[in-house]
Amino acid sequence: MFRPILATLIAIFALAEPALAEDYPTRPVTVVVPFAAGGPSDAMMRILGEGMKRSLGQSIVVEDITGAGGSIGVGRVVHSAPDGYTIGFGHLGTHVANGAIYKLNYDLVTDLEPIVLLPSNPMVIVSRNAVPAKTLKDLIAWLKSRPQPATAGTAGAGSGSHIAGLAFEKAAGVSVQFVPYRGTAPALNDLVAGQIDIIVDQLSNSINQVRAGNIRAYAVTDSRRSDQAQDIPTTDEAGLPNFHMTLWSGLWAPKGTPKPIIDKLNKAANEALADPQVKKQLENLGLRMPPASQSTPEALGDWQKAEIAKWWPIIKAANVKVE
Ligand code: MLT
Repeated sequence: MFRPILATLIAIFALAEPALAEDYPTRPVTVVVPFAAGGPSDAMMRILGEGMKRSLGQSIVVEDITGAGGSIGVGRVVHSAPDGYTIGFGHLGTHVANGAIYKLNYDLVTDLEPIVLLPSNPMVIVSRNAVPAKTLKDLIAWLKSRPQPATAGTAGAGSGSHIAGLAFEKAAGVSVQFVPYRGTAPALNDLVAGQIDIIVDQLSNSINQVRAGNIRAYAVTDSRRSDQAQDIPTTDEAGLPNFHMTLWSGLWAPKGTPKPIIDKLNKAANEALADPQVKKQLENLGLRMPPASQSTPEALGDWQKAEIAKWWPIIKAANVKVE
């Protein structure tokens, strides 16, 4: 008795799907940001959301769901209805590194539909102002001289700031004590207050505090200086060659979200990124627009798989223990 009813419901939904997609969206779209409000992820999504709203004709509601290096927020998206009304923001940490560190109850590739690649930014090595180091070489010497390991703020195990911190330890031959927060906004507050010693942070998060003189920047993890922070040397120039790391971001939807809905979201995000006002706000934070050649949902999917292949062996070799 039950089977015919189920078959009928599936048939009805299949027939209704094109119409549902055609009218989409008929109400606000929620974007889950897996880190604390005010951080680089939240900031980028709120700026982008204003542009997407104009294109979709519906509001973008940012919901910050934090914890476990971003994996809790990603899980919320994975287990949401595939109707286009709950999607997720993520990046190298949440959609690559977390898969190598946590026993996730979802698969980062097969349980999500890629929507679009978003802007990226290099990391920047910053310290509280009282650290007695003026150059990156001085900072590394200071870190090595500490009787107890210096403290390094992160957004939790597997976050971008944590992966960058691990890479910095390896490149500089230092050891730090990682201090996890629900995002790098609260970590930055503690750095400004002098409660922690350093962060290997996204440039977009630290740039305004560096400009205000509230923290000290030593180098950006890139082969070229940032156009918005020309006075910060690269790691190559500062004596730590080849320590490069770019944190890229993207949007994903739950598996099974209809392709026409994915395409509408992709189009809205690309139109937002092309909007001069949105572009100016993002670039002023030191963010770099994604290449036009990587603007399709498939491009994000291919990029994420390539990054998993690159980073999982590195992260697993680091034998990261989740607290
Ligand atoms: C991180 O991975 O460090 C996060 O992006 C920080 C944040 O967005 O709060």
